[in-house]
Amino acid sequence: MHVIALYPGTFDPPTNGHVDIIERSLQIFDRVIVAIALNVRKEPLFTTDERLALIREAVGTRPNFEVEAFSGLLVDYVRRRQARVIIRGLRAIADFEYEFQLAHMNRKLAPGLDTVFLPTTEDNFYISSSLVKEIASFGGDVSGVVPACVNRALRQKVGAAGG
Ligand code: COA
Repeated sequence: MHVIALYPGTFDPPTNGHVDIIERSLQIFDRVIVAIALNVRKEPLFTTDERLALIREAVGTRPNFEVEAFSGLLVDYVRRRQARVIIRGLRAIADFEYEFQLAHMNRKLAPGLDTVFLPTTEDNFYISSSLVKEIASFGGDVSGVVPACVNRALRQKVGAAGG
């Protein structure tokens, strides 16, 4: 069975935590599609094109990997791409309630669709994109928690130190 997994998120910006989830998913599934949500609840710092380019650069070219943006319901996009599972990273227990709600809601909307949770590694459990942006905006060094291309992009946008 050829299993396509879809990893959705806002990725504003992608962090080492996201890249770790992508790398591990590529070891498990036949194909991994990273799906950048045009999230109505968030006002992103990076444009969709910038986020697409940053993820492509951070992950590199792989035969079984692609990244795309989508709008609308996640389950509709999942169906269009014929994906079998949704991947989500779990950082801490605090993530669980929200993620559990999303997973159940998505399963209700699309019976048969499952969410697979990957626990983040201990190096990444405290990272979030908002925190990265906040630290960068005050000139803090985020080079240890984001890919080099994201660090460069942050310095251009908000003037982060480091790297
Ligand atoms: N490492 C580091 N950080 C991580 C991480 C990891 N492995 N996994 C998640 N995060 C962080 C993100 O950086 C982000 O931080 P922020 O809130 O500070 O920006 C946070 O965890 C959660 O973000 P993300 O994983 O991008 O999810 P989201 O909540 O922004 O988006 C969607 C969730 C896109 C999946 C959801 O909104 C969606 O499906 N939207 C489409 C519309 C829809 O179908 N809605 C109905 C859903 S039932």
